[in-house]
Order: sequence, then structure tokens, then C-alpha cells
Amino acid sequence: MTQLLKLKHISKSFGNKEALKDINMTISEGEILGFLGPSGAGKTTTIKILTGQMTQTSGEAVILGQDTRKINEKIYEQIGIVTDASGFYEEFSVLDNLMLFANLLKVKKERVNDLIDRVGLTEQKKQLAGKLSKGQGQRLILARAVLHQPRLLFLDEPTSGLDPTTALEIHRLLLELKEAGMGIFLTTHNMEEATKLCNHVALLNEGHIVEFGTPQEVCLRYNTNKQYRVMLNSNEEYVLEQTPENIRQISEWISEDLLETIHSCEPTLESVFLEVTGRELS
Ligand SMILES: Nc1ncnc2c1ncn2[C@@H]1O[C@H](COP(=O)(O)OP(=O)(O)O)[C@@H](O)[C@H]1O
Ligand SMILES: [Mg+2]
Repeated sequence: MTQLLKLKHISKSFGNKEALKDINMTISEGEILGFLGPSGAGKTTTIKILTGQMTQTSGEAVILGQDTRKINEKIYEQIGIVTDASGFYEEFSVLDNLMLFANLLKVKKERVNDLIDRVGLTEQKKQLAGKLSKGQGQRLILARAVLHQPRLLFLDEPTSGLDPTTALEIHRLLLELKEAGMGIFLTTHNMEEATKLCNHVALLNEGHIVEFGTPQEVCLRYNTNKQYRVMLNSNEEYVLEQTPENIRQISEWISEDLLETIHSCEPTLESVFLEVTGRELS
């Protein structure tokens, strides 16, 4: 798979505050990389460096073969960005907002209509963008960011503050885009979202990557105290450690057909994060 993005030993200081320390990572085609961390961890700073909006103090960032300190129009044509600062023209309709960019980017009108359907704004097509709900507005911003079929998409907390249904619709769209080969750099503090969407996750705390891997790898690395949660037909519930005695008990329940449900209790990304950093995500 073609590599789309590479960060090598990136550090960034603001005055004497080190916001990023020795960040290394890559993204390939068809991959969603989750950059996870609490507020102030350095997620937005990383996106700004990667998209040429800020210069690192040291290290090298390359996207689509180009050093991000010398990013040019040709590269901007192949990337999409959704950040807090992304907006739209409130006094234009949904369709006109997208058509304006479609004309600039030489995108066909059919693609605009198709994308409006895919982000679920068909009914709002003629509506003024300023009258959209927060979730609808976020979907319009996302539609605009992928209008020109970028190879690489940067999303800074795209579902933050959205209702669960809208967040699910955005997840579905991101998975479709990934399947089509787009590389996606996603920052989030929502660990469930990351577990569901990301091929790899980097856990960021105070400017450091403290864990990296697939969501499952990262969770299993912390599965030291193996436990099973069982429920019997009688509705009795137990959480049992993996000891020879408990295993015998569980197999007895199974053979006597008394077991209703059984689950392994490996940690979630959320609990791993808490263990590694001692911090709650919020
Ligand atoms: N322009 C700036 N000037 C000074 N400090 C900044 C600037 N941008 C970010 N920071 C600091 O860098 C750290 C990381 O910020 P940021 O990347 O916005 O975190 P996140 O997006 O993970 O919430 C924070 O401590 C923040 O205060
Ligand atoms: Mg941020």
C-alpha cells in the first residue's frame, strides 16, 4: 500500500512549553489512523503541522511525498481538511455551498448531488446553510472536504458534540471513504469511535505517543488480569478470574446447560488510556 503520510521525530515548542515530543507515524492508502488524547494533548497542533498551517520546531513531516513546510497548491488539491475553523457560507443553500467549491475544483455536478445524498442532506439541499442543525452543518463540512476525492483526509474531532445518530452516519461515510482507498487522519477523544473506525491508534498524552497499535493490540497488551463475566439461566451473574478452579466451574455450568452468557473482560481503549496516563478523557 502506498504511504501517504510520514512524521519523523516531530517536536513543537511554544515558548518554553513543549507541546509535541518526538512524534513518529505513518498512514497508508485505505487506512484510518486515530490520534487519541484528551484536550491539550497536541492533536490539533499535529494536524496544523501536517497541513502546513504551522511549522514544527524539529523533525520532518511529509504528506504525499512533499515536505509540509513547502506544501503547495498541487498538494492542497489532493487533501481534505475538517477542523473547528472549517465553515460554510451561511447565506447560501447547501447545494450552492457545494457547487461553489465544485466549480473551483472542477468537480462534476453529479458528484455534488451524489455526495449530498450520501451525507444525508437530500431534504436540506435548497435550505440555507445557516439554518442547518449542528449535525447537518458538520455533514456539509465533511461533504465539502471530500468533494474533490482527496487522497488524504484530516479530521479534527469531526463528531465532537454530535448526537449519536449523526455520529453513526459520519462513521458510515468514513468507512466508505476508507474502503475506496482514502487515508484518514482522525483525532478524537471518543475511544469507542476510535475502536470502531481505526486501523491503528496512537494514544497521545502531553505531547507524547504513549501507546501505538491496532485498537485490539493495544487493549490486549493490558489484558493482564484475565476475567470472564458470566450469567446463568437463573440470572445470577459472576465475574470470575481465570483460575483452574473457575475454569472447571465454568465448564460444569456449560455441560449442565446452566450458562446463559459468557464474556471475556479485556480492557477497553478508554480503560487502557486511564491506566497509562492516570487521566480521564474528556
Ligand atoms: N498557538 C499556540 N500558542 C501557544 N500554545 C499553544 C498554541 N497552540 C496550542 N498550544 C498549546 O499546545 C498544547 C496542545 O494544544 P492542542 O494541539 O490544541 O491540543 P488538542 O488539540 O489535543 O486539544 C496545549 O497546551 C496548548 O495550550
Ligand atoms: Mg484540538
